Amino acid sequence: MAWHDDQARRDELYRDPYPLYERARRAEGLTYVPEFDAWLVARDRDVREVLLRAEDFSSAHALLPDVPLSEAALGVLPRGFGPRPTVVSSDGAAHRRHRAPLNRGLSAARVAALLPYARTCASELVDGFAADGSAELVEAYARRLPGMVVGRLIGLDPADVPAAVDGGYRAEELLFRPLAPEGQVAAAEDVVALQHLLDGYVRDRRERPRDDMCSAMVAALAPGNAELTLEQRHELVTSLQNLLIAGFLTTSALIGTMLLHLLGDRRQWRMLRADPSLIPAAVEEAVRHDTAIQAFRRTTTRPVTLAGTKLPAAATVLVAYGSANRDEQRYERPGEFDITRPGNRQHLAFGYGTHGCPGSQLARDQLRLTLDLFIRRMPELRLDRDRPRPQMRPTLIHRSPQALYVTW
Ligand code: HEM
Repeated sequence: MAWHDDQARRDELYRDPYPLYERARRAEGLTYVPEFDAWLVARDRDVREVLLRAEDFSSAHALLPDVPLSEAALGVLPRGFGPRPTVVSSDGAAHRRHRAPLNRGLSAARVAALLPYARTCASELVDGFAADGSAELVEAYARRLPGMVVGRLIGLDPADVPAAVDGGYRAEELLFRPLAPEGQVAAAEDVVALQHLLDGYVRDRRERPRDDMCSAMVAALAPGNAELTLEQRHELVTSLQNLLIAGFLTTSALIGTMLLHLLGDRRQWRMLRADPSLIPAAVEEAVRHDTAIQAFRRTTTRPVTLAGTKLPAAATVLVAYGSANRDEQRYERPGEFDITRPGNRQHLAFGYGTHGCPGSQLARDQLRLTLDLFIRRMPELRLDRDRPRPQMRPTLIHRSPQALYVTW
C-alpha cells in the first residue's frame, strides 16, 4: 500500500513538476528533493553554471533509471549488449570521442539533406488519416515521424523502423515506469531484441560501410578494418541505442506537447494559421514552455558551492532545464504559452555547453514542418471536446500528453 501511495505521489509530481520548480527557484540555495534523491537546480543562472562547470559536475550518471530492476529482469539483460558509457554519460576526452561523429552526422548540411525525406514521411502520415475527420495524434503521427527520420539518419531499413521504435519505448518503460515483475522481464527481452537488431547493423556496416550514421559511428569508435571485437560491439550497440532513443522519443514527445498547447488556445492557433511566418517562434515557445527532457543529473567530482549551498563530492544534482525555462528572472509571465513572446530562444531545453543537444536543428525542423503541414492540411484542427482534457505522462524524461484526440 505504502509503495502504491508513494508511486501515486511521484506520478503526480512528474505530471506537474512546475509548482515544485517555482518553490525551488524562490528558495535560498538549492532544494533537496527526496523523490528525486537529488538537489534540484532550478534557476536559469544556476543551471547554466552547472552545465558550464563540466569538470566539477560529471555526466557519468546523467541518466539514472527511475525504478530499480528486478533480479529476473537483470538476468535477461546480459543476453544483449552494454551497458557502456555513451556520449551522454561520459566526460572530457571520452566525451569528445563519442561526440565527434555526432557533430559531423548532425551538421546543418546533413540535417538539410534529411528534410525532404522527413517532409514526405509527414505528408504520407497525414494522408493516412486526413479524410477521417478525427484522430488520436500521438499514435497516428507524433510517435511515428521522428522514428522514421532518425531511422533514416542511422541507416535503418524502413522495414526495421517499427521494431526499433517499439524497442526504444520498451527501454523507456523498463527504466522509467514501475512495471510488474513479469512486465519488466518482457520489456527487458524486447530491449535485448532491439540490441541484437542494432548489432546486425553494426557488423554489416563494418563489412559494407554506407553513407549513414551507423557507418560513421563504427568508423569513429572502432577505427580500422579488423573484425569488431565483442567489446567494440557492446560500445557501438549502446551508443546507437542511445542515439536512437535521444533522437525520436524526445521529438515525438514535443510534437504532442506543442500541439496540445497550441490547440488548447484557439486564438494562437488561428494567429499561426493566418501568419505561418510565426511557425519558428511558435516552435521555440513550445520547446521553452513545456519541454520534453525536463532534467538530467550531474554528480559533483569534488566539494563545491552552488547558489550558496555547499555540496560534498559525489553529491547528485538534478539540472532542471524545464524549470530554468520558466525562470521569472528571465521571462515575463513564464508559465504562459505565448507564441509572440520575444527572446524565447534563450531557453535551455536543448541543454547548454559541451553536452548541449547535437540534434536540436533536426528536432526544430520536424516541429516546424509539422506545424506547416497541419495548418495547411487541417486548418480547422481542434481538441476533441467530447474527450476529457489530455493528461500528461508521469515522467520527467519524455514529457508528453498520454493521448491527443482531435477533430477537424
Ligand atoms: C525536441 C527534441 C529534443 C530535445 C528536447 C532534446 C534535449 C536534449 C538535452 C536537454 C540534451 C542535453 C543533455 C545533457 O545536458 O546531459 C540533449 C543531448 C543530446 N541529444 Fe537531444 N534533444 C532533442 C532531440 C534530439 C535529436 C533529434 C537527436 C538526434 C538525432 C538528439 C540527440 C542528442 C544526443 C546524442 C545528446 C547527447 C549529447 C552529449 O551528451 O554530448 N536529440 N538533448
